[in-house]
Amino acid sequence: MKLEEFLEEISPLISDKDTLAVNASPREAGSCRKMAALINKDIPGSSAVNLKDFDIKPCTGCLKCAAGDCVQSDDFGKFINLISNRQVLIIISPVFFTAVPAQLKALIDRCQAYWSNNIKPVKNCDGYFVLIGEQSKDYLDCASRPVRACFNTLGVTHRGSYYILNNEIS
Ligand SMILES: Cc1cc2nc3c(=O)[nH]c(=O)nc-3n(C[C@H](O)[C@H](O)[C@H](O)COP(=O)(O)O)c2cc1C
Repeated sequence: MKLEEFLEEISPLISDKDTLAVNASPREAGSCRKMAALINKDIPGSSAVNLKDFDIKPCTGCLKCAAGDCVQSDDFGKFINLISNRQVLIIISPVFFTAVPAQLKALIDRCQAYWSNNIKPVKNCDGYFVLIGEQSKDYLDCASRPVRACFNTLGVTHRGSYYILNNEIS
């Protein structure tokens, strides 16, 4: 999808809503960060964060969360607090080997604590996923599937997934 088409489609859906754009790329100054900055600048009500600025450790699979708290001590709770009262959440991610980068996958896997306890920490929030890569949009289904599962677990309503070529974003 062309960048202009994406912005034209998404702007009326999220304008003047409390929107958080999350740059899921570990790169300091890449395409995803530029996209998050563009949303922040052009769409009233929005703000942006970099996922890499949060210390989110991977799930160890210990399943202790099923009977209590997660064993990890890091910024996961801080990140969830940041999104819990938003009206719109936009995850912007690069394609890494047909899927999402480890930083985003770590966030997704840590949502197991909510899945195990059937708790939805986010209410009345629309979720969008933007995937940015160098090749075809064939990876959108593969990369968006875990994000959609994560949205569902958190209580975020998935409203759309988009693929944008990184050469669209100068
Ligand atoms: C480890 C790694 C794996 C990648 N794998 C793919 C891939 O499978 N398909 C693709 O289209 N691009 C792939 N890319 C390219 C990135 O998705 C692309 O450059 C993206 O725009 C980077 O976003 P950023 O500039 O915000 O970091 C890969 C890049 C890296 C660093």
